[in-house]
Amino acid sequence: MAGGFGIESGGVTKDYPGKVTAYVLITCIAAAMGGMIFGYDIGISGGVTSMAPFLKRFFPAVYRKEVLDNSTNQYCKFDSILLTLFTSSLYLAALVASFGASKVTRNLGRRWSMLLGGTIFLCGALMNAAAQNILMLIVGRILLGVGVGFATQSVPLYVSEMAPYKHRGSLNVLFQLSITVGILCANVVNYFTQKMANGEGWRVSLGGAAVPALIIGISAFFLPNTPNSILEKGNPTKAREMLRRIRGVSDCEVEAEFSDIVEASKASKAVKHPWRNLGKRKYRPHLIMSVFIPMFQQLTGINVVMFYAPVLFITIGFGNDASLMSALITGGVIVAATLISVYGTDKWGRRSLFFWGGGLMFIFQVAVASLIGWKFGVTGQVDNLPGWYAIVVVICICIFVSGYAFSWGPLGWLVPSEIFPLEIRSAAQSIVVCVNMLFTFLIAQIFLTMLCHLKFGLFIFFAFFVALMTIFIYLFLPETKNIPIEDMSQVWEEHWYWKKYVVVDGPSFSEKV
Ligand code: BGC
Repeated sequence: MAGGFGIESGGVTKDYPGKVTAYVLITCIAAAMGGMIFGYDIGISGGVTSMAPFLKRFFPAVYRKEVLDNSTNQYCKFDSILLTLFTSSLYLAALVASFGASKVTRNLGRRWSMLLGGTIFLCGALMNAAAQNILMLIVGRILLGVGVGFATQSVPLYVSEMAPYKHRGSLNVLFQLSITVGILCANVVNYFTQKMANGEGWRVSLGGAAVPALIIGISAFFLPNTPNSILEKGNPTKAREMLRRIRGVSDCEVEAEFSDIVEASKASKAVKHPWRNLGKRKYRPHLIMSVFIPMFQQLTGINVVMFYAPVLFITIGFGNDASLMSALITGGVIVAATLISVYGTDKWGRRSLFFWGGGLMFIFQVAVASLIGWKFGVTGQVDNLPGWYAIVVVICICIFVSGYAFSWGPLGWLVPSEIFPLEIRSAAQSIVVCVNMLFTFLIAQIFLTMLCHLKFGLFIFFAFFVALMTIFIYLFLPETKNIPIEDMSQVWEEHWYWKKYVVVDGPSFSEKV
């Protein structure tokens, strides 16, 4: 453990029996598909907002600036508040929806949240595909956002509660994996629809969101509720049976884990105001993590590439086709690198992945800034960009993306979902979603303006935050791999800084065991 700033997993932990049964695997995969609706959206907007027929119809001013006006600084061509609002409105809606989702998740169960999310999302997709004016576009985006808010609130919790603790990391990362598959699918769809002769390809792109919506909606319909959720709703016999079934163990073997869940559930029931509770001193580390982890995830700058890769590549001189092609490549890279974390989170631990990812992102963001700055200067104009140079830029962007994909991408969702005790879990997860969406919104909204003003320095701006967040992890985040969720309090009790907040009078976790 680096610098002794956390507790090494594998310290004093309980050992609940249980394996990855086919049942748990299928339910987790089905639930994780909820990430696809989020990913599809992330990937689709960049390509659509770079399609000329779409711009011409809904954003004629941007279209004129892009096509006709050569005087504008290259970095500023796409700088339009309305255009960015198209991308960002979804995240604002998701932010607001996450609060309603918290209530549904807690009272009706994680499954209903997913079902509701999928259905609302489907309506948004249909509305967007049929859009006749900008109002329909934005209302559609808002409905999609509500769906995303529900899915991101419920899926990570669902998977973390279903998974046996030793495989919680890998199973939870499936959520991020399906986000990235969604992004890749969207990029592929855009690549082809952009070539559609009738200029209506954007409708297919936007309407395509109905496919992941149906997948999550139908899967959620058949999914069982988690044992924790069944217990929260007051049905202990059913909860015990469900736990036994998903762990694939005998009746007596499930006892230890079940009684810990019952304890946690009692504590959770005693809490009438989970929100107010979050303000208590003993939940300080949880509160800080629920704000800083999603905030830092967004400040890696990943969504600059995800939302605006095509626009970004056009800006630095690639043709339309080449820029969508490059977005496709980054989409492929993000899926492949996420697989590293499926394998590595439970093996190497969360902290190692954060450090490696942080290091790679920092180096290659600085490299991208230097490469763009060197050739494009402050005007963004370049005559005849050599092919090899463009390839080097794309490779550096891909390495940055892969650094994110095995670290902050999956861990930005996994770590919060596993550190909250049940009594504050839904409320704290809402904060995670809310902060994540707030920063996603802000970056989507101001990126094009920032690009216009900071130019290539934009990448240095994000590199600074990557350095900061890596230090933050080193100092403040304990290792959580291989620790059962209900025993998580130990990592804070033994942490050099957090122990003064969480240790109340009485024996510490290791003394208790
Ligand atoms: C983030 C998204 C991001 C995506 C990229 C997710 O974990 O929340 O904002 O676009 O990862 O893979």
